Amino acid sequence: QDPRIPKIASSIRVIPDFPKPGIMFQDITTLLLDTEAFKDTIDIFVERYKGKGISVVAGVEARGFIFGPPIALAIGAKFVPMRKPKKLPGKVISEEYSLEYGTDKIEMHVGAVEPGERAIIIDDLIATGGTLAAAIRLLERVGVKIVECACVIELPELNGREKLGEAPLFILVTSDAA
Ligand code: PRP
Ligand code: MG
Repeated sequence: QDPRIPKIASSIRVIPDFPKPGIMFQDITTLLLDTEAFKDTIDIFVERYKGKGISVVAGVEARGFIFGPPIALAIGAKFVPMRKPKKLPGKVISEEYSLEYGTDKIEMHVGAVEPGERAIIIDDLIATGGTLAAAIRLLERVGVKIVECACVIELPELNGREKLGEAPLFILVTSDAA
């Protein structure tokens, strides 16, 4: 295992019963306060994806917007935001998904990506996998190849990775706190 991972793992704060009883909330804001852990997190992703012909880094609102852009800049790819409904001003395509708590929708601008582009999808965490599965569907509908999905944290008990189909999943930290 990468020697930088334990410090990243210990920088993530777990808050019980947020936003609902029984949910162990994985709070990455404490990772962002730890300048070494945040840099190491971005570096690990950049080392993995640099030079792999990836032209699109897609990030899911909101917490995918924190980790995605620094990776995109460092590997020379464009950043494509996948936003919550009714936020994007242009023509959009959208996908519904169910969350650990509630249901939601994500939208992407038409024309943000071209058929045949190679993408990674970045988010902070995979729980049920519904969010990443919707992001995969959005990009695949427009002919983009998903090279990999990458998250900081996986809650493995929820079997989210089974929802991702052929798309591989790369994670840094496993949490059994669910
Ligand atoms: C959280 C998290 C992931 C998603 C994972 O986002 O940031 O995006 O849930 O859950 P899933 O694997 O069960 O789909 P959320 O929409 O709660 O809020 P955010 O806007 O703060 O990212
Ligand atoms: Mg999110």
